[in-house]
Amino acid sequence: MDQNSLKKAVGLAAVEFIQPDTIVGIGTGSTINYFINSLSSIKFKIKGVVSSSEQSTNKLRNFGIKIINLNELKFLPLYIDSADEIDPQMCMIKGGGAALTSEKIIASVAEKFICIVDVSKKVNILGKFPVPIEVIGIARGFVTRELEKIGGIVKYRRGIITDHGNIILDIYNLSISNPILLEQHINSIPGVVTVGIFASRKADILLVSDHNGINTIIK
Ligand code: 5RP
Repeated sequence: MDQNSLKKAVGLAAVEFIQPDTIVGIGTGSTINYFINSLSSIKFKIKGVVSSSEQSTNKLRNFGIKIINLNELKFLPLYIDSADEIDPQMCMIKGGGAALTSEKIIASVAEKFICIVDVSKKVNILGKFPVPIEVIGIARGFVTRELEKIGGIVKYRRGIITDHGNIILDIYNLSISNPILLEQHINSIPGVVTVGIFASRKADILLVSDHNGINTIIK
């Protein structure tokens, strides 16, 4: 099976975790696009979804799936999203699709976070994939210099403006031995909106597709 087939398989498997009459938070990216395709087959069984990006919203609307504003909810039972990397503690790097800020907000509200990945995303230590950071434009130079102080090699993702009107920096060469501390440190730099390390809010359940099928790992 190629990677797209594995993404499709795990997207299909995630639908089994959705209860009737519920509201589901939805991530962003190619794995989630497969999940949305599968979700469309049970769209009349759910109340609606909270979307993490314009990209996912457009796809959901095309399927006629009801979009609910997060601010209308006091409780969200479930968030389903993929990741760029996930470690054995269920900490993740996310933001390859530049939707990390809304993803982190919805994941933080949700009672349960199910991460769905193909096996290539599983790592022992985070950091081979560059850490995306959403940054206020005027802070680009300052944030870059602050990240260089901790050994980061910073690349500006040219031509990308997030749904919130900000820029993305991708940080290479970070040593991520303690994801929670690094998340806190990068978050504290003025001008950083969101760092794509998801360690304070990890996944609760991981579905991994490989050539043998789907593995379910519960924290
Ligand atoms: C988007 C994300 C995605 O979950 C991550 O980039 C994985 O994407 P894909 O499913 O396309 O491999 O964090 O901001």
